Amino acid sequence: MRHLPLVTLTLLLGTVKGTDPYKGYRLPDTQIPSKYEIDLSLSDTVFKGNETFFNGSVMITFQVTENTNEIKLHSAVTIHNVKLLPTNEIILNHTSNSTTEILTIPLTTTLNISTNYALAIQYTGQLDTSNMLGFYRSQYVDSAGTTQYLVTTQFESTNARKAFPCFDEPKYKATYVLTITYPKDLQAISNTPINSDVTRDGYKTTIFTETPLMSTYLVAFTVSGFSCTSGENIDTNVTHQVCSRPETASDRNLAAEYGTKIMNALEEHFGYKYQNMNIGKMDQLAIPDFDAGAMENWGMVTYKESALLYNMNHTPNLMKQRVIAVIAHEFTHMWFGNLVTLDWWDYTFLNEGFARYFQYFILTKIPELVGYEMNEQFVIEQQQTAFLVDASTSSDSLTSKAATPSEISSKFGSISYNKGASIIRMLASFMGSDNFTNSLKQYLSQNAYATSVPEKLWNVMSNYTLSDNLPSNVSFLEVIDNWSNKAGFPLITASKNGTDVILTQKRFLYFDTDNTQWYVPISYTLSKDENKFENISTNIWLQPNTTQVIKNVLGSNEWIILNNKASAYYRVNYDTSLWERIRMVLNSNHTLIDKINRAQIVDDTLNLARSNEIRYSEAFQTLDYLRNETCYYPWYSAIEGFNYLLMRLGENSVLSNRVKSRILYLMASVKKNLSLSDVTDEEHIHTLKLQKVMAVACKLGDENCVRVSKERFLGYKNGSVSIDKNVRSIVYCNALRYSDDIESDWEYLWNRLSETSQANEISNLITALGCTDSTKYLRYYLEQSVNASSGIRIQDLPQLWASVYSSSTKGLEVAFDFLSENHSQIYAYFSKASSLLPAIVERFTSDAQLQKLQTFINRQSTNSSIRATAEGALDKARINFKWVSDKKEDLERHFGISSASSSGITIYTMLSSIVILMVFFN
Ligand SMILES: *[C@@H]1O[C@H](CO)[C@@H](O)[C@H](O)[C@H]1NC(C)=O
Ligand SMILES: *[C@@H]1O[C@H](CO)[C@@H](O)[C@H](O)[C@H]1NC(C)=O
Ligand SMILES: *[C@@H]1O[C@H](CO)[C@@H](O)[C@H](O)[C@H]1NC(C)=O
Ligand SMILES: *[C@@H]1O[C@H](CO)[C@@H](O)[C@H](O)[C@H]1NC(C)=O
Ligand SMILES: *[C@@H]1O[C@H](CO)[C@@H](O)[C@H](O)[C@H]1NC(C)=O
Ligand SMILES: *[C@@H]1O[C@H](CO)[C@@H](O)[C@H](O)[C@H]1NC(C)=O
Ligand SMILES: *[C@@H]1O[C@H](CO)[C@@H](O)[C@H](O)[C@H]1NC(C)=O
Ligand SMILES: [Zn+2]
Repeated sequence: MRHLPLVTLTLLLGTVKGTDPYKGYRLPDTQIPSKYEIDLSLSDTVFKGNETFFNGSVMITFQVTENTNEIKLHSAVTIHNVKLLPTNEIILNHTSNSTTEILTIPLTTTLNISTNYALAIQYTGQLDTSNMLGFYRSQYVDSAGTTQYLVTTQFESTNARKAFPCFDEPKYKATYVLTITYPKDLQAISNTPINSDVTRDGYKTTIFTETPLMSTYLVAFTVSGFSCTSGENIDTNVTHQVCSRPETASDRNLAAEYGTKIMNALEEHFGYKYQNMNIGKMDQLAIPDFDAGAMENWGMVTYKESALLYNMNHTPNLMKQRVIAVIAHEFTHMWFGNLVTLDWWDYTFLNEGFARYFQYFILTKIPELVGYEMNEQFVIEQQQTAFLVDASTSSDSLTSKAATPSEISSKFGSISYNKGASIIRMLASFMGSDNFTNSLKQYLSQNAYATSVPEKLWNVMSNYTLSDNLPSNVSFLEVIDNWSNKAGFPLITASKNGTDVILTQKRFLYFDTDNTQWYVPISYTLSKDENKFENISTNIWLQPNTTQVIKNVLGSNEWIILNNKASAYYRVNYDTSLWERIRMVLNSNHTLIDKINRAQIVDDTLNLARSNEIRYSEAFQTLDYLRNETCYYPWYSAIEGFNYLLMRLGENSVLSNRVKSRILYLMASVKKNLSLSDVTDEEHIHTLKLQKVMAVACKLGDENCVRVSKERFLGYKNGSVSIDKNVRSIVYCNALRYSDDIESDWEYLWNRLSETSQANEISNLITALGCTDSTKYLRYYLEQSVNASSGIRIQDLPQLWASVYSSSTKGLEVAFDFLSENHSQIYAYFSKASSLLPAIVERFTSDAQLQKLQTFINRQSTNSSIRATAEGALDKARINFKWVSDKKEDLERHFGISSASSSGITIYTMLSSIVILMVFFN
């Protein structure tokens, strides 16, 4: 209450100065809808694939907050008829802005406060058939070989307006009554249970019960030939079903079982029953064409098939874990998102940060899943990946502004999800988990059926944080301010001064610096501590623009490690003498350091080298201990950091070959217990390690791995061997990468792809087919990717292209050539193609590649958007080349390569000449 909510402040200032921070994309606050009655009808020709339109009408009940003679709302349908009730005024001269999709309805009468009005609108809408957005069509081939069509919705964030005119902002919560008419042999599912069904003339009309108050983006409905499997009821009266195309019926059991368990664990944890939300039921649906992983529509959650269905023979353990975690993510949204909703998309983390946090944390409450070690996996999968994005100067804060649909969609990235979840985890550590959980319970019950801004959350948390758990005389709101309103995170440096340790902070950035400072909760472990690393509460606060001294803790040879279990969101560097001591313990007995802190040390080390805080030669000295490391977590971090270095160095230099052999050398111990031919999947983390480590070992040419892959593949082709689901993607990929008969091997897998409809197996095959370095097959593969009759789904294309451009230098070059020759056709075929060029150029390592990019740029018209994208990518590539040339000398010295063979200087000179060329060709 002490702090004015930020959004109000900005809007206030905006109004005073006459500028609109949301650029005309927001609705005025003068009309408040309370109920939508939606009536849709779909002709049977839609389900034969012939038509893609639908007819609709909507009646919107609303009130006004000031006397007005104009109504504004969203619409992206063709409007036939608008009538105002109760006056029965028919409005003919409504206007529509096609950029903002705001429909303006002028009235001849003035509307008065506190009167109920309604708008009745008749319209026709268009089903989307390629972007999987709004109200869209999906299809599959059934077991009889017939193409079956279905329709479904994806409204988040701004696409409900494509199905019915509406006040399409999350803060306008209303109730919905949906009526839908469709061919009688199909079934309709929506957020709430069915109220009534009437069949007439070959069509069925279904009316659903009225929803609770909710945001437009959470409305959902589908009409399909799906069948369903029931799980146990969630509460006494709340049914739970998993629905999908009938051919996949046997793959629904995992979701049916864990759906109920997870929902019950969340109810218990939040102290708020799902039943009390009054949505009435839960259906989980697997949609054959689906753009994101899943969508949390209230009472009707939709998923990609691979994110919901589990097949014992095909789904690897990692994907099984993903299915369970995605269900937990979506079900968390029933509270964080659906019951309590972000007020506007600036605050996407209020939905996604919590969903991401609980998709890990809540699984630790389910006894069968304790072996998943989800708290530990959080650090490597979420926090360390958030650091990668948040160390860039272009990173945004959790609360950054978003106005246009494309700005809103860019809020759905690592900052809102991974950083949001990491900050929430840090809060849980320094508030203490009981106070943290109690604050969430209060926040949920205080804001149920309403929307929220961060200040509402912080104010509740502030009441639940003991002053002992804060820096003295500093409020919770001051502590949280820069974590939520500024980009980035601190690098803490610990230096030895006699027996003291001195702590300082600065923002961690790969390039540049800025002066953001934070209140940082520091925990640490000393070599002499009992119960090492277990205590994640704060030992000491480091405050902005100050140094902090930990007094009298270092005896001779004693070590200190900061950030127990990586529970707070920062990286750590040490001075030379403290690094020396850490290396000593790593080399003598690394198990004295907690496995998550070993992963932290590995990840920090490689990223400190990447950002110039230390040299790679020093990093490799610290990482020498990996020779004896067999634990999954440090190896996960090591592999991520090594992959970055190898990507920058390219494939075929003397230096990159030395780095590769060093990595294989370091892998000696960890590889010892990992076998591609004799997989036991009892131990979950072991199978994750097997996949992670062996994929890299094979790619780097580990002889044993290559030989076994080829043997297994041969056996698989002649039918004598079945490859374990956990290593199938590795075996397929490397059989093609090291094939002796690429024609036979590639075509074998290509034929398998057209024969299977199992989502995990499709994913294995799509990735493997890019692993060859045969130009002929890579080109054929990319041609088929944009050929509608190939049967490859648009949802799979980003993965398909990534398999080509990230598997080898040859793949990278074929992908670039094919994209540059056919870019307009490819961009028209799938909308995500626009991110291909930057992703490809990010991997460039040679002058010849840059020259090709320059030639491509020169061929584009001066102000085309692809030219702008390519020029942006070129700028980034220059920075990457400079990065390599800066690192080369140190690396070459470390790996004993004479500097005469260094080409750093040459690359840099070439770059300057390209700059000059560019000027001439413009
Ligand atoms: C539509 O809205 C945009 C964004 O506010 C504005 O720039 C544009 O001028 C509007 N177009 C029309 C035709 O009013
Ligand atoms: C519907 O489409 C199919 C296949 O495209 C075609 O064979 C059929 O004639 C069409 N039917 C109608 C009524 O247009
Ligand atoms: C059209 O809209 C204006 C307000 O913008 C209104 O004054 C006028 O009466 C309307 N004309 C008709 C024919 O409805
Ligand atoms: C379940 O529904 C029945 C019948 O509508 C009702 O009597 C009962 O109270 C409900 N149970 C709960 C726990 O709400
Ligand atoms: C915090 O506690 C104070 C004092 O009990 C109370 O007045 C205030 O409403 C609480 N704030 C929130 C957001 O719960
Ligand atoms: C926070 O936790 C402490 C210690 O467990 C407890 O004494 C205190 O009552 C809690 N505060 C609130 C507001 O629940
Ligand atoms: C290091 O310790 C010495 C002796 O206690 C002290 O005089 C000096 O100020 C300390 N240095 C820093 C940077 O705190
Ligand atoms: Zn989510």
